[in-house]
Amino acid sequence: MTATTTPDRPTALVTGAGRGIGRAIVLRLAQEGYACVVVDLDADAAEKVAAEVGGRAVGLDVTDSTAVSELAVTITRLDALVNNAGIFPPAPIAEVPLEQFRAVMDVNVLGPLNLIQAFLPQLGAARGAVVNIASTAAKAPVPGTAAYSPSKAALISLTKLCAVELASTGVRFNAIGPGGVQTEGTASVSADPEREARFNALLPVGRRALPDDIADVVPFLVGPDARYVTGQVIYVDGGLTESTISFLRAAQRG
Ligand SMILES: NC(=O)c1ccc[n+]([C@@H]2O[C@H](COP(=O)([O-])OP(=O)(O)OC[C@H]3O[C@@H](n4cnc5c(N)ncnc54)[C@H](O)[C@@H]3O)[C@@H](O)[C@H]2O)c1
Repeated sequence: MTATTTPDRPTALVTGAGRGIGRAIVLRLAQEGYACVVVDLDADAAEKVAAEVGGRAVGLDVTDSTAVSELAVTITRLDALVNNAGIFPPAPIAEVPLEQFRAVMDVNVLGPLNLIQAFLPQLGAARGAVVNIASTAAKAPVPGTAAYSPSKAALISLTKLCAVELASTGVRFNAIGPGGVQTEGTASVSADPEREARFNALLPVGRRALPDDIADVVPFLVGPDARYVTGQVIYVDGGLTESTISFLRAAQRG
């Protein structure tokens, strides 16, 4: 791979950026003036998003440490790393095959660690920031998604550990916990209009999030205004994780 140097512009790398929340983050960071490296398992999807912002597309699996190390050699400046790639295959916890559980932990936890390890020198040199895209599932487990909730809880713990252990590098580490977001990955969840209306009625803000609702929080966390913010989680969930009362009232109404 040839070296790519973008020393004059802040650079951001976003994983799982070929669609959904990751794509929205790329579009928003590009608006803010970042040169974007668009990483996705789906190389064609990454190409399309990169073309939208004049960025660089990279097709790779975030769990592939060789591919990630080779990529790191080609990126001399990195100001923002957004670990967004994540998977959420359904499975009952009583029966989930250990292999499937491991695969989810691999992508959702070891993937971000892989990227952090590979890009720490560049991030440190830039006094940059990492944002890990976790989930409200870390706080309020989602039955039927097996490793998903534990993986996001582990990702938050990893974020906090890095914030503390790696503080001397000058890199800040924070997480965002989205609630329900309308993306290609969750299209089937919001497909039934009646079920969607019931869900929205229980949410304090009254609607499922759009990818931009999540993406718009990222520039703050990676930018200078958050210079004293590290080891934190911002739940961007329309009040979902604080709205137990809505569910109690709904149950009382019957
Ligand atoms: N959509 C939601 O409701 C929601 C809620 C909370 C958290 N999240 C989290 O936000 C992130 C993005 O969610 P989304 O709904 O946009 O997902 P999505 O499924 O629509 O898109 C995910 C992208 O990640 C890529 N990807 C998957 N595995 C990869 C790997 N191993 N290496 C590189 N790329 C890989 C996919 O190809 C895809 O383009 C995930 O981490 C997810 O857990 C989503």
